[in-house]
Amino acid sequence: MDKIRIAVVGLGSRGAWWLGELLKMEDVDVTAICDRLPHRLEAAQELCRKTYGREVFATLNHKEAIVRDDNDAVLMLGSWNDHISVAIEAMRSGKYAASEVGPGQSLQQCWDLVRARQETGMPFMMLENCCYNREEMAVLNMVKKGLFGEVIHCGGGYRHDLREHISSFEDDRERCYHNLHRNAELYPTHELGPIMTWLSVNRGNRMLTLTATASKSRGFNTMNRKKGRQELPYTEGDVVTTVIKCAGGETIELTHDISLPHPYSRLGLLEGTEGIWLADKHSVYFDGISPEEKWEDIETYYEKYDHPLWKKTNATDFTSGHGGMDWLVMRAFLESVKNRTETPLDVYDAAAMMAVSVLSEESISMGSMPMAIPDFTEGRWVRREPAPKSIYSLAEVDESVYE
Ligand SMILES: NC(=O)c1ccc[n+]([C@@H]2O[C@H](COP(=O)([O-])OP(=O)(O)OC[C@H]3O[C@@H](n4cnc5c(N)ncnc54)[C@H](O)[C@@H]3O)[C@@H](O)[C@H]2O)c1
Repeated sequence: MDKIRIAVVGLGSRGAWWLGELLKMEDVDVTAICDRLPHRLEAAQELCRKTYGREVFATLNHKEAIVRDDNDAVLMLGSWNDHISVAIEAMRSGKYAASEVGPGQSLQQCWDLVRARQETGMPFMMLENCCYNREEMAVLNMVKKGLFGEVIHCGGGYRHDLREHISSFEDDRERCYHNLHRNAELYPTHELGPIMTWLSVNRGNRMLTLTATASKSRGFNTMNRKKGRQELPYTEGDVVTTVIKCAGGETIELTHDISLPHPYSRLGLLEGTEGIWLADKHSVYFDGISPEEKWEDIETYYEKYDHPLWKKTNATDFTSGHGGMDWLVMRAFLESVKNRTETPLDVYDAAAMMAVSVLSEESISMGSMPMAIPDFTEGRWVRREPAPKSIYSLAEVDESVYE
């Protein structure tokens, strides 16, 4: 395959940024662009014109972009409610599909996605960029090399002050309405994606049950009052805490917190029988190795335990996107399309992550009742086919593929 031919659906702030990155890639040909908002489509058309010196097929209707026979893959970079239906249409049209991150809306939708993968043979990947962040990948390498001993507990969160972004309703962003009407772990994937790689979820392990609890909701309206805006009946709790139990006996604690004032944090934590990692301190501590009761900067371990993907490809050379992880996750998807292989995060990973949102909502609505998390692999997790060998693999750290 000379060029990877891509249709891009959803050209909001994230999609427009991605389009600019894709247009820079020499082995990518953007063959179609789509947004249902004309002004966004026009801005994207202009960018394509400037870069390619010709017109790229542009449409307000995603179906027209998907069905064309001059694309190999469809990127859905739009709104949460449309990610999966658009991806399924793409797979049914014989295309690789990927979507930006987001919560699931129903368990049925998660199953529909899995069935589309099975029936069409076309892979789907959720573009969970944090799985490719340098620190999370170094932790993956350390886990695989046994540095933490047996992993017991992982924590993570999305602590991002989005009060202005969500409460302004500027540009009629769909995400605002989810926060207005739902009460759930609405954005679990940035922390849960990496945790699933550390715990080998869907490959020898799986998430069994969860409980979720939401605090009261005050943050958005505190901001609205300060800005002189109308107060609204937000249902999303300011802090939503979800606890997951895994088949391997590990526990996971997730925190969603976007409506209170604080610096950004993904609250990363991994505890094992031999050591601990704490993201907010960028520190590790290993029993019998670290000076007693003293945290060590994780970077002092990079010489030995930096993930080979980061040693090999200094992703920060290629893009400013979140320190390089954006470039890596997109390249991981594109290389799978090029090589016609399974994607490193597959449809079962996406369905499991999205189901956590759906079930957290049900748990909260029933007073933190425990919820069973479906096994989307239908038993395959106990003995999965090996993941494709690739420098982007998240299933194993195989140094030989980097030689
Ligand atoms: N991975 C990250 O670090 C990261 C960062 C920011 C946003 N995101 C994700 O990126 C996605 C987009 O976020 P955003 O802030 O750009 O949202 P946005 O609301 O600004 O833009 C979404 C765009 O998609 C378009 N759209 C949605 N469904 C469509 C359809 N079926 N056909 C045509 N156009 C459609 C909308 O018209 C809109 O222009 C979300 O899933 C968000 O969670 C991820």
